[in-house]
Amino acid sequence: MLIVLSLFTSCDQMNENDTTLNNAAPSKSYKGKAIAHDFDDKIDSLILQMTLEEKVGMLHGTSMFNTAGVERLGIPELKMADGPLGVREEISRDSWAPAGWDNDFATYYPAGGGLAATWNTRLSYKFGNSVGEETRARGKDVLLSPAINIIRTPLGGRTYEYFTEDPFLNKKLTVPFVVGLQENDVAACVKHYAANNQETNRDFVDVQIDERTLREIYLPAFKAAVVEANAYSMMGAYNKFRDEYLCENNYMLNEVLRDEWGFEGVVISDWAAVHTTVKSLESGLDIEMGTPKPFNEFFLADALIDAAKSDKISEEEIDKHVKRILQVMYTLKSMGATDRKRGSINTEAHFQDAYDIAAESIVLLKNSNNILPLNPEQLKSIAVIGNNATKKNALGGFGAGVKTEREITPLEGLQNRLPKSININYAEGYLERYAPKSEAVFGEVTQEAVNTIDKLEPEMLEEAIQAAKNSDACIVFAGSNRDYETEASDRADLELPFGQEELIEQILEVNPNTVVVIIGGGPFNIKGIKEKASTLVWSWFNGSEGGNALADVLLGAVNPSGKLPWTMPEKLDDSPAHATNSFPGDKVVSYDEGLLVGYRWFDTKDIDPLYPFGYGLSYTTFELKNARTDKKSYSGEETIMITVDIQNTGNKDGKEVIQVYSTKNDSKVDRPLQELKGFEKVLVTAGQNTTATIAIPVKELAYYNVDKAAWEIEPGNYNLRVGNSSRKIISELSISVE
Ligand code: BGC
Repeated sequence: MLIVLSLFTSCDQMNENDTTLNNAAPSKSYKGKAIAHDFDDKIDSLILQMTLEEKVGMLHGTSMFNTAGVERLGIPELKMADGPLGVREEISRDSWAPAGWDNDFATYYPAGGGLAATWNTRLSYKFGNSVGEETRARGKDVLLSPAINIIRTPLGGRTYEYFTEDPFLNKKLTVPFVVGLQENDVAACVKHYAANNQETNRDFVDVQIDERTLREIYLPAFKAAVVEANAYSMMGAYNKFRDEYLCENNYMLNEVLRDEWGFEGVVISDWAAVHTTVKSLESGLDIEMGTPKPFNEFFLADALIDAAKSDKISEEEIDKHVKRILQVMYTLKSMGATDRKRGSINTEAHFQDAYDIAAESIVLLKNSNNILPLNPEQLKSIAVIGNNATKKNALGGFGAGVKTEREITPLEGLQNRLPKSININYAEGYLERYAPKSEAVFGEVTQEAVNTIDKLEPEMLEEAIQAAKNSDACIVFAGSNRDYETEASDRADLELPFGQEELIEQILEVNPNTVVVIIGGGPFNIKGIKEKASTLVWSWFNGSEGGNALADVLLGAVNPSGKLPWTMPEKLDDSPAHATNSFPGDKVVSYDEGLLVGYRWFDTKDIDPLYPFGYGLSYTTFELKNARTDKKSYSGEETIMITVDIQNTGNKDGKEVIQVYSTKNDSKVDRPLQELKGFEKVLVTAGQNTTATIAIPVKELAYYNVDKAAWEIEPGNYNLRVGNSSRKIISELSISVE
């Protein structure tokens, strides 16, 4: 069987629900529909009829998530909703309090880390499309998603929400997500543009990044969201970039986003991220959203009316922004059409989508005694230990969650999937403890909390030990939750909270038949656990069906195929932002590691990670053989076709992610040791052989030449390293570029 798989993502958008990966789908790129211009004349005539006040009403929040419409002209409000985990519950018009609806339940989808760990672009499309249907069904125009900032530090409070440390994986997931979402007559709002890579001091920190690093690491996914997916909106970030707030950053908004990339949509501020009136609008911001003050006091509200009246800003400038918003509204068919999609929400089909993503996201880190998959036929009892077995994560912490009627916990998943004859002995094991409420910033764990209350309760520990002792097998569910990893603060360190490490050690002593499952959004220090436990699984804040998907992996109904979307360091100081002592900065944070973000740092500096980027095991084994390119020499316009045979050498069907990293030894510019340039996930049936082809356009090998302000393909030799993780390369192919 020959599968042609492309870097441009391999599928026919008509056939997106097929994620089986075993049909010979011809390569096709995801491409979003551009902003419509059919109504431009109509829009111009509408603007002519609008008062200054009506125009300004469209440029700022007039409720928590809406901007004003103009009823007499048939212009509706522009309605937005969070966010990355699914459509957020309805919020009151003028405060963060829930609106108290009883029909605002939605599907809780896996968080960004989970989606990224699937390394499956079809699932990304499916996610976008599914949540797009929900957005529409809730009557919204804009979903504040996807969140795609690069994971620079493992401590990042929003690592769980973002995708990855790698710009290539990031853009390959972003494009289908946005395309799928926007096919539902709703806009994506891609966030947070840009360089919003930490929560500490996010409201004011000035991020300094050299131009090449900006272009090669931090911008590619945003650019692809615009150029390939045609995202209709972008969210301006809180922080500053090169001394200018991102919502008034002429370079980033006007020069890069609009002039270079051709963005025609609207830039919406993050909530309360605006600091000026004239400067913001002239620098490219279109809509100010936020909260802390009355809506008319926003910078783009009364102050803008005053500025226009006193000639500090021209009415043509204001019209320009109003026109963009109206163009988006016509494109979304919120005006000028009667056939707008209606969507659907909280449906079995969407829970199934959430399940499909979760099932491919779970990463098998270690299975050295082949304890997994558990065989129920050989078990009479299982101890299920840990607060995370019952913890729900749809809501929690600071920031957007989802009000859902379904969140299957890990314990419920096991109860659903195990035969009733098996006794489940549950023990909570540890208590979640946080700093005293008066001192805590939501789920933030202060150093004081770590020192003083990161202790196990003796009775709970004893109960857990007894459960483990008296059961044939044991699963410990540890890790974090969305109170612990949260927007608005970064973690203090990488340690597992709540005394979990001690708990796990004690359990392992009494029952060696123990599986440790870590549920988290970002890396933790699990070095000690890796050494002591034979069996280690990584799962995520994994959506409505997370518990069922996890149980299916643990019991073997699903063969794990998730791969880490970031590097798990052995210790914090090994990772680049910390090794270079350039996190979190104070007023200024300078990204001193430059291009060497994530595995680029570990590989170039020859530092062993605990688990490398792209790593994940399966219940079967794969042999990659016979990697070859279609030619030896290519022009800059050509595409390199890499073919590789994959033999499933075990007795279970399984999916493997073939990864291709490029290196250029004699480059005239500094380059990371290797960089991901192509990947594909393939299904290989037990005992069978499959041939996969990965297409890498030569232009993917370009670097950003700062002097020329252009991407440049260096001629000469390149090595393409084919493997199944950044540290497991089975073949190195040499090609040359003319
Ligand atoms: C977050 C955004 C979010 C917005 C509205 C901000 O605090 O940074 O991601 O969309 O709030 O809830």
